Amino acid sequence: MTHTTDIRPEDHRPALLDLFSCAGGAAMGYHRAGFDVTGVDIRPRPNYPFTFIQGDALTVLADLIESGEIRRFTTAHASPPCQKGCALTVGTNTSRGWGGTHVDLVAPTRDLLDASGLPYVIEQPNGKADVRKDITLCGEMFGLGVLRHRNFELGRWSTPQAAHPKHRGYVRGWRHGAYRDGPYVAAYGEGGGKATVPEMQAAMGIDWTDVREELTEAIPPAYTEWLGRALLARPRSGAVAA
Ligand SMILES: C[S@@+](CC[C@H](N)C(=O)[O-])C[C@H]1O[C@@H](n2cnc3c(N)ncnc32)[C@H](O)[C@@H]1O
Repeated sequence: MTHTTDIRPEDHRPALLDLFSCAGGAAMGYHRAGFDVTGVDIRPRPNYPFTFIQGDALTVLADLIESGEIRRFTTAHASPPCQKGCALTVGTNTSRGWGGTHVDLVAPTRDLLDASGLPYVIEQPNGKADVRKDITLCGEMFGLGVLRHRNFELGRWSTPQAAHPKHRGYVRGWRHGAYRDGPYVAAYGEGGGKATVPEMQAAMGIDWTDVREELTEAIPPAYTEWLGRALLARPRSGAVAA
């Protein structure tokens, strides 16, 4: 199991495993909350600002569980890609029951996270996959320049949903032949008034990557900083199911 030998969580911070990490939008928030973060992504992510393992997230997680090395971590986060992104996994890990033509990575990710014994977070965009909406976060909750609603399923812990403020206006851009201005930018796709790379960086609070694809995939760090602080502040005896 060569790919786990580089995991060296700092002793003084609780270690968090960041599965399907991309360039680390989620990771940065957990880091700011106080975690030592290790990311796993199937593609090289040289902009990832913390310890990084290139590999299949499900294989890495299964190996960590089998070897007992999962005990190095206190928490896990997973952002499995939706169907389009899953093309990357085709042909991988058919012997373990995922990969091949199977495109739902959420269910096998949840199964492994349940087996890990760790408290965990699974993130998905609105309208994607079967993730419980225990928490929904929106850029307006943090004064950001994107709306970017994201749903979070919480495993083995819980925290109350924060209030969802009224949006201040429209997402800037062309839709159905009409242009609307507004306080938010569209941080996905291209054309039609969608955000430039510097606009996406400013709107989400991300300055360590200027790769458009990495920005369009990212969760604003403010979301996971909020979740990370809630994870660290939770009462351990009551909130963690056995
Ligand atoms: C939605 S993005 C994650 C965004 C990230 N949470 C952030 O905030 O920046 C999904 C990532 O999953 C990666 N990916 C796809 N299939 C994978 C697999 N089988 N194992 C590991 N990573 C995978 C993609 O390369 C992509 O970077």
